[in-house]
Amino acid sequence: MIPARYDPGAIALHWVHAILIAVLIFIGLSIDGLPSGPERSSTIALHKSLGITAFLLLLLRLAWRRRHPPPADERLSTLQQRLARYGHRAVYLLLVLTPLSGYLSSSFTKYPMRFFGYVIPKAGWPDEALNALFGAAHSLFAWTLLVLIVMHVGAVILHWLQGVPVLPRMLPGRHGSGRR
Ligand code: HEM
Ligand code: HEM
Repeated sequence: MIPARYDPGAIALHWVHAILIAVLIFIGLSIDGLPSGPERSSTIALHKSLGITAFLLLLLRLAWRRRHPPPADERLSTLQQRLARYGHRAVYLLLVLTPLSGYLSSSFTKYPMRFFGYVIPKAGWPDEALNALFGAAHSLFAWTLLVLIVMHVGAVILHWLQGVPVLPRMLPGRHGSGRR
């Protein structure tokens, strides 16, 4: 049976977003190992700009999703469909909380907030305690997001092992696009 696919817009947004998040986690984790200096500053600046881009992309993705609801996968049991729905909601929640906490953490520093070089508004003032608080939250959310993504990919592999491949639903193709 050919599974109903996500629409091409949702598929494109999923993979661009997935790559961006993987790059952000990689850059975020590499910052710690960099000594203070221009390389560290430019890496943090790139991380912030890409992080804000990921948040804007998320807004676009959620708006797109409202108009193009995901197709049901009737090969899965009601329980499996419910678990997938809650799992995806948890990923979306962390995709909001992670950039938001990063933005707030960076807002409570003496540095201006830049988006690819352009100064944009900050939501705070220099305050070390708040900077540390939101920084700790950002780290916690980013790690939680990473765990959820590992579980997400694990679920895709598990379904494939059980003989119900779900990956084709999120891949472009000529058959079954958005229909059952
Ligand atoms: C979905 C988007 C984002 C992801 C997945 C992400 C991920 C991460 C990760 C994994 C770390 C390392 C945490 C650790 O070492 O425990 C980090 C650090 C950081 N992130 Fe993000 N981030 C995102 C968005 C943002 C945004 C929007 C900003 C600010 C505008 C930001 C600012 C920072 C800063 C300042 C650090 C700390 C660097 C340091 O160690 O001093 N992040 N991020
Ligand atoms: C190799 C990595 C990945 C694979 C193989 C993968 C695969 C998939 C598949 C097959 C689906 C459709 C599930 C279904 O049948 O309903 C899906 C949905 C989803 N994926 Fe991924 N994914 C990956 C990485 C990511 C990453 C890094 C993120 C974080 C941005 C992510 C976020 C989501 C979300 C939020 C959905 C739900 C879409 C919706 O129903 O609105 N995925 N993914």
